[in-house]
Amino acid sequence: MKKWIPMLLVSASWPALTAATDQPDTAALQQEARQITQQFGGQLKSLLQAAMASGGPVNAMQVCKVNAPQIADTASKDSGWKVARTASRVRNPANQPDPWEQQVLQDWARQMAAGTAVEQLQPATLVSAAEYRFMQPIATADLCVKCHGAELAPEVRATLAELYPQDQATGFKAGDLRGAFSLRKPL
Ligand code: HEC
Repeated sequence: MKKWIPMLLVSASWPALTAATDQPDTAALQQEARQITQQFGGQLKSLLQAAMASGGPVNAMQVCKVNAPQIADTASKDSGWKVARTASRVRNPANQPDPWEQQVLQDWARQMAAGTAVEQLQPATLVSAAEYRFMQPIATADLCVKCHGAELAPEVRATLAELYPQDQATGFKAGDLRGAFSLRKPL
């Protein structure tokens, strides 16, 4: 019987120890963030594809302007996360990166300059006492170049000039890093 005592002690003290350090479960948080990102990205892309097919890029502009923030808001309300998009060169000044986001975007850009493909970039995370943050790279696809490329149709250029006079998000080609999904959750 004696043999059992140390084992019982160990197993009894284990939950108490983990509770005392009060560490957030970062693996679970990262998993959750990846799921939300996938869902948000998937919804956006299918809406965008449908709108491009039915009415071309000027019509599809509404998806990026109106639907993207709406889907992000809904995802945020449903999940308790704040879901956003950002980039080094933004179209909408409201999507400007904060210092941490800027640093991650620059780090990814350096990795790509050194030969890493955009698909191989790894998500970034930041944990503080107050919140958990997660960033996932967004690649430029063929579809995106119609509104973010170097050569835009005149009507696309005109619509962008009207809606986004400070637009910096052109000149991209397929395979470039376009920006990032950026998520945060209070802890
Ligand atoms: C029909 C035109 C159009 C297409 C196609 C398009 N975008 Fe955009 N994109 C926009 C507009 C307009 C905004 C600004 C949205 C806003 O006001 O928040 C934007 C914003 C963004 C942002 C947020 C950062 C910023 O620049 O403000 C990212 C990231 C982005 N687009 C990525 C993509 C990717 C990736 C694709 C291809 C899968 C794509 N876009 C295709 C028009 C487009």
